[in-house]
Amino acid sequence: MTANPPSRIAQLRQASVAMLDGLTPAQQRCQSHPELSPMLWHVGHVLFMETYWLAERVFGDARITDAWRDLYVPEISAKDERSARLPDADALRAWAAEISEHNDTCWQRARDMAHPLLADGYLAAFLRQHYAQHLETMRLVRAQLALAECDPAAIDMRAAAPDTDFTPLAAHAVDIGTASIDAYDNEQPVFTAYPPTFAIAERCVSNAQWLGFIEAGGYQNADWWDADGWAWREAAGIAHPQHWRALTNGWFVFAPGSTDIANAPVHGIGWYEARAYARYAGARLPRETEWEAARRVGVLTDVEQVWEWCDDAFYPYPGFRAFPYDGYSLPWFDGGHFVARGASVHSEPEIRRPGFRNFYPPTHRHIHAGLRLAST
Ligand code: AVJ
Ligand code: FE
Repeated sequence: MTANPPSRIAQLRQASVAMLDGLTPAQQRCQSHPELSPMLWHVGHVLFMETYWLAERVFGDARITDAWRDLYVPEISAKDERSARLPDADALRAWAAEISEHNDTCWQRARDMAHPLLADGYLAAFLRQHYAQHLETMRLVRAQLALAECDPAAIDMRAAAPDTDFTPLAAHAVDIGTASIDAYDNEQPVFTAYPPTFAIAERCVSNAQWLGFIEAGGYQNADWWDADGWAWREAAGIAHPQHWRALTNGWFVFAPGSTDIANAPVHGIGWYEARAYARYAGARLPRETEWEAARRVGVLTDVEQVWEWCDDAFYPYPGFRAFPYDGYSLPWFDGGHFVARGASVHSEPEIRRPGFRNFYPPTHRHIHAGLRLAST
């Protein structure tokens, strides 16, 4: 039995609680975006989940979780009803400190305990993954709050044409998936794929290149869009990435800290928009096995800045088995979720690996996702 050193978990807890710092009570409680839960909820949820898996599932102690289940279990807590039911930040911080101490004791006791969830350090790895993913989402919440408050000013950016110099990758066998203890169920089991010869862009589509798409009438030309993507675009009135603003004297692109916005990878786009751009460019999105093959042989340079939309709907690998619970992946194998690969500037080290699969509906644009082109 490997020990479950709680130090990284302690760090991740602290980083989660610190996400409340510097926000007004209203910012802590509001939904900054229809798809994003309040910051208070994320903080409560990650601590609740640690307590659920450790105290309740391993030790059979449901005293803490029973009191909070209907608020912090997403399946039984409607997203738009969370805000009003949340404790305030002081109460949440006090609760976090209290249950962190309780969980630390549990981790100590877990050291010399035999339990299927603890084998090879699985549970600690799973919870680190979970904290890491919500930390990224909390950074997305902070980005939305900052975007709402910022003072948009036009930036200096000229439109650029799509890249055409793709790197060819000859057909070869590649192992797809992740075998380590921190792998999510949807990355397993590892299997061998044989992607036929294809070519892939070395870098992601930039903001300047996205501006090229806009200036070419990308958001006005139905030919480049999937039918359902076009219907969504028309209904939602989408004409630029989520964090861009059209000003009378140019474009504002929300990119705090970026010194070369024009050449930075575009983000704030959904899968439908990514597909439209690829068609406009005379290319296509990479399939996720192609993306992973290219990542594993090292031909992708600027990875892990933005999530990269792939062509595929999110589906299980052959032999998939849901664990440690059905809810992580299984409900989303519905044909309505699409794969994004890599990682973003908001990602923790825990999820930066070639086999990690992110997945979202094609309309979600708040997730720091962009695209890279490929061709057959
Ligand atoms: C895989 C990022 C879509 O945030 O909804 C967190 C990850 N699942 N807690 C999400 C997740 C349960 C999930 N995504
Ligand atoms: Fe979660």
